[in-house]
Amino acid sequence: MDSVPGSVAYLEHTAHIDRVLGSLQSQGAAAHGQVEQLLDGHSAAELRRLVPLSYRRQVGAFFTPSHLRAKVAEALKATSAESYLDPTCGAGDLLLAATEVMPIRATVSETLADWGGKLHGWDLHEEFIRAARGRIALTVLRRHYESSGRFETSPDLVQYLNGIKQADANTQKRTLVDAVVLNPPFTRAPAPSSCSWAQGKTSNAAIFFLDALQHIKRGGHIVAILPDSLRSGTNFRKWRATVEGCTDVTRVERLGVFDEHTDIDVFLLVATVRETGPSQHAVQWWTKQPEGRTVGDLFEVRVGTVVDNRDPHEGESRPFLVARDLPASGRSNIPPRRRLFSGRLFEPPFVAIRRTSRPTDKSSARAAGVLVTGDEPVAVDNHLLVAKPSKGGVKACNALIAMLAESSTNALLDDRISCRHLTVSAIKQLPWRA
Ligand SMILES: C[S@@+](CC[C@H](N)C(=O)[O-])C[C@H]1O[C@@H](n2cnc3c(N)ncnc32)[C@H](O)[C@@H]1O
Repeated sequence: MDSVPGSVAYLEHTAHIDRVLGSLQSQGAAAHGQVEQLLDGHSAAELRRLVPLSYRRQVGAFFTPSHLRAKVAEALKATSAESYLDPTCGAGDLLLAATEVMPIRATVSETLADWGGKLHGWDLHEEFIRAARGRIALTVLRRHYESSGRFETSPDLVQYLNGIKQADANTQKRTLVDAVVLNPPFTRAPAPSSCSWAQGKTSNAAIFFLDALQHIKRGGHIVAILPDSLRSGTNFRKWRATVEGCTDVTRVERLGVFDEHTDIDVFLLVATVRETGPSQHAVQWWTKQPEGRTVGDLFEVRVGTVVDNRDPHEGESRPFLVARDLPASGRSNIPPRRRLFSGRLFEPPFVAIRRTSRPTDKSSARAAGVLVTGDEPVAVDNHLLVAKPSKGGVKACNALIAMLAESSTNALLDDRISCRHLTVSAIKQLPWRA
C-alpha cells in the first residue's frame, strides 16, 4: 500500500521518533527526557499540528489521550490476556496500554522478539504504523532502563514488530488474540448487507466493534472506547442487543468528552467473548432507574412536527413556536410568529423543551422547560420537544418544569443520553418525582 497523502506530513514526527531511538542507542540517558514526551501525548499533539482537521475527520484519526489510555490499561490488568490486537492502532497508544501488563525479558532483543509475537496492530496509514512501532521500541528501552539503569543497544529495534503493519482492518484475515483494544474511527459508513442491527449509513465504530470480535479467542476480551451514542442512543438498541448476544459485558463506564480538542462523549466498554450459551447477566447500559411512575406515564412527549425548511407552507395560518423565540425559562403565551401549516398541532397548555442541550454543563438545566399557555393550537418546530399532560393542565406542566430544573434530572439525563439531542424516550423515562 502507498502512503495516504493526507497524513504524509506525519512523517516529520516519525522521523523525530527514529532520531530519538538512534540517540538513545548512541548517547544513552542523554536523550531520556524526550522519551517520556514521545510516549505520552506528543504523538497526538503532532497529529493535530501536522495533519489537517478535515482529513483527520474524514478518516476518524483521533489518538487516545493518556487519561483514557490509563482506563484501558486498568481494564487489561483485570484480564489474563497475553496477546493483543488493535485493528485501528494509529500511533499505538492502546498497544502501549497493553504493554503495561506485559513482562520484559532478560534483554531488549528478547523482549522485542517476545512482544513482537504478541502485539498486532493495523492502520491504513504507514506513517502512524511507523510511529506505533517506534514508540513500542521506545517503551521497551525505557522499561529495561528502569530495571537496569542503562540503555541497552540492539540493532534495528523495530524489525521484531512485524505484527504492527499498514493494513485495512476490513480486509484482514482472522488473527486470534486474547484481547482486542479498540478506539475505532467515529466516522459513518454503510451498514454491511448482512447487518441485522442497522440499515443504510450508521456508526463505523459500531461496525468496527462487532467485526473485531472475530479476532478474539473464546473467553478473550475486548476493551473499547466508543462514542456514547452507542451506549445511550435509541438508534443503537439493536446493536446493544447484538453485543449482548455474543459477549458478556463486564463494564460500561461513561468517560465524558474524549479530550479538550475533541468534543464528543465516549464510554468504556469491556466485554468477554462468550464461550457457550446465553448471557448470565443483564447489562446495565445506564443506571437502573427506581421503580414507579415516569414522565411518560403522565405526559405525551413528542418532537415538534414542523420541519420548517422542508414542510410546504400550506393550510391555515397557525401560531408557530420556534426555539429562538422561546424564553430560557418561565412562561410563553401564544407565539406571535405565524406559518401556514396543515400537520399536527399542539393545544396549550404544554411544556416546550429545547432538543439541543449540552451534556455535563453544570451551569444550566439540560432540559429547561417553558410553559406555553393560550387558547389557540400551535405549530411547533422540530427543534423542540413538547410534553403535554394527559390531565392536570397548567399545574402538571409546572410540576414537570420544576422537576426538569433539578440537578438530579441533569445527572439522570447525562447518564441516559450524553449526545447533544435530547430524545423523547430520555424525557419519558425520567422518574416522576413531583
Ligand atoms: C480514532 S483513531 C484511534 C487510533 C488508536 N487506536 C488510538 O486509540 O489512539 C482511529 C484510527 O483508525 C484508522 N483507520 C481508519 N479506517 C481504518 C481501516 N479501515 N483499517 C485500519 N485502520 C483504519 C485511522 O487511520 C486512525 O488512525
